[in-house]
Amino acid sequence: MPANTIVDLRSDTVTRPSPGMRRAIAEAEVGDDVLGDDPTVKVLQERLAGLLGKEAALFFPSGTQANQVGILLNSEPGSEAICELNAHVFHYEFAGAAAWSGVQLRQVPTEDGVLTAELARPYIRPESPHLARTSLICAENTHNMAGGKVMPLEVLRGLRELADEHGLPLHLDGARLWNASAATGIPPAEFAAQAETVMVSLSKGLGAPIGSALAGTAGAIDRAWTLRKRLGGGMRQVGILAAAGIYALDHNLPRLCEDHARARRLAEFIDGLAGFRVVPPDTNIVMIVVERDDLAPTDVVGFLEERGVLILATGPRRLRAVTHLDVDDAGIESACAAFEALIEANDG
Ligand SMILES: Cc1ncc(COP(=O)(O)O)c(C=O)c1O
Repeated sequence: MPANTIVDLRSDTVTRPSPGMRRAIAEAEVGDDVLGDDPTVKVLQERLAGLLGKEAALFFPSGTQANQVGILLNSEPGSEAICELNAHVFHYEFAGAAAWSGVQLRQVPTEDGVLTAELARPYIRPESPHLARTSLICAENTHNMAGGKVMPLEVLRGLRELADEHGLPLHLDGARLWNASAATGIPPAEFAAQAETVMVSLSKGLGAPIGSALAGTAGAIDRAWTLRKRLGGGMRQVGILAAAGIYALDHNLPRLCEDHARARRLAEFIDGLAGFRVVPPDTNIVMIVVERDDLAPTDVVGFLEERGVLILATGPRRLRAVTHLDVDDAGIESACAAFEALIEANDG
C-alpha cells in the first residue's frame, strides 16, 4: 500500500460512493417526493418494507431523524422511554427525545450493551399518582457503543414480551440491523417483527452517502410522513439518493460478513499487544481498551494518524475502529503494522 494511503477506520459512515453507485445516482429517475412523485424513492421504500416485513417504510435524510420520528410516534409528552445506558438515542441525538417528544429517557445499565427483559423490567414504572408513566421501550441492534454488539433474537423477543405485558410499544434503532442479520444469519424481518417501528440506515455499512428509513404499519408511516415534514425532512428529487440506497442493497448487503472478518482479524491482533484489550467483535466495530498508563487514547490516535491510519478515541481509555467497504485486507494489515510500530516505539 502506498505510504500516503489513508486507512480510515473512524466509522463505517466514511465510505465514498463507488463508481457503480455514482452511475446509479446519475441515471436515477426522479420526481418531487414531497408531492409523492419520485418513482425511485417508492421502489426503495417498498423494497425496505419487504426486507423488514412491515407494511410500509419511509425514506429519511438521517438515522437520527428517523429515530426521533419513531419516538414521536410511539410515546407521549411527559412520559418515560426506556433505553440502554449507552444507547445512541440517549447520547448522540442532542436530547431529541426531550426536545421533540417531551419524553424523558430512562437508561438501563447493562454489562455488555444487551438490554434484556430481566434488566429492563425494574425500570418500568408502576402505576402511581407520583411517577411518570413509561410509554416506550427503545432497543438498539447492533449496539454501536457496545462495539457492534448483536442483540440476540431471543433477547429481543423477551423485550417484546415485556412490552406486551405492560401494553408498551417497542422502537428498534437498527442503524446496523443489517450487520446483526449478517452475523446471525437471521433475516432482518425477524428482528423487526418484534418492534412497532424500526429504523435502518443505508449510509453506514451499506455505503450510501445519505439515507435511513423508518418502517412500521401503513398507518404509522402515514403519520411519520407528517412528522418528517414538520422536522424539515421533506425532500424533493431525492430519487438520486434512493438510487444509491437501492444500489447499496443490491451490491453491499451481501458482503457485510467481509467487514466482520476484518474486524475480528484487527481485534485479535490488537488484543495480543502489551497493554491493549479488545473484546472479540460480533460485527464490524472494534472497541479497544488501553490498559497501560503510559499511553492515552489520544496519543495512540496521533501516532497512527502519522502512519495514515485513522481511528477514534471514544473515552478516557477507549478507542474505536470500524471496518467497512472502503477498507480491504491490505488496509487492515497496515493498521496492524501501525499498532505494532506504536508498541515498538514505546517498549523498544
Ligand atoms: C446506533 C445508531 N443509531 C442512530 C444513528 C444515527 O444515524 P445518523 O448519523 O444517520 O443520524 C447512528 C449513527 O452512527 C447509530 O450508530
